[in-house]
Amino acid sequence: MVNALELLTTRRSFKAVELSDPAPSAAEIDTLLTVAARVPDHGKLAPWRFILFEGAARGAAGDAIAAAFQAKYPDAQPEHVEAERNRLTRAPLVVAVVSRASLHAKIPEWEQVLSAGAAAMNLVLAAHALGYGANWITEWYAYDRAVLDALGLAPHERIAGFIHVGTPPGPPQDRPRPALGEIVTRFGPGRQD
Ligand SMILES: Cc1cc2nc3c(=O)[nH]c(=O)nc-3n(C[C@H](O)[C@H](O)[C@H](O)COP(=O)(O)O)c2cc1C
Repeated sequence: MVNALELLTTRRSFKAVELSDPAPSAAEIDTLLTVAARVPDHGKLAPWRFILFEGAARGAAGDAIAAAFQAKYPDAQPEHVEAERNRLTRAPLVVAVVSRASLHAKIPEWEQVLSAGAAAMNLVLAAHALGYGANWITEWYAYDRAVLDALGLAPHERIAGFIHVGTPPGPPQDRPRPALGEIVTRFGPGRQD
């Protein structure tokens, strides 16, 4: 068991193309989704759901992405269309985290959206804990209505992220992080810092 703080301070994204087989097993996928669904959720609304893309189904979703791309860019080169078709075949497992936030008498929609972000983050961290790499991306097709229809999203649902998961090539290099001095202040009467 990796120390929790070590886990949190070593997580890094990998590019989707860097993530390869082996994919998480069925039991590991259950663990990823169980952790993803175990997030703060004001009102216990479960304002999120998950769509798994594995094996050939990734290509079928890619067909919808390619079709939407071609509809937007009728003159696109065939190789560009093929690249779009392969959007979800880069990593062996892709999990779409879907926000299903909606108007509620007591719970602001904003808080429901934040809960979906927490679900996505938990999924990414759980993948890291199991020794896999992950990449939380949206890309253009997360915002394309034709693609969303093909993936079965209702009009009020939104993609919080397509979480790509697979085996990384090795330990990641970190990237610069914001200096705490630039993002943290201490509130207090008369204090400016
Ligand atoms: C909601 C959301 C959507 C993102 N979409 C993309 C994307 O489409 N393409 C991309 O390169 N990075 C995207 N990112 C950023 C990556 O997830 C990642 O944070 C970044 O590449 C590297 O940072 P890290 O190593 O600290 O995770 C997105 C992040 C968030 C939170």
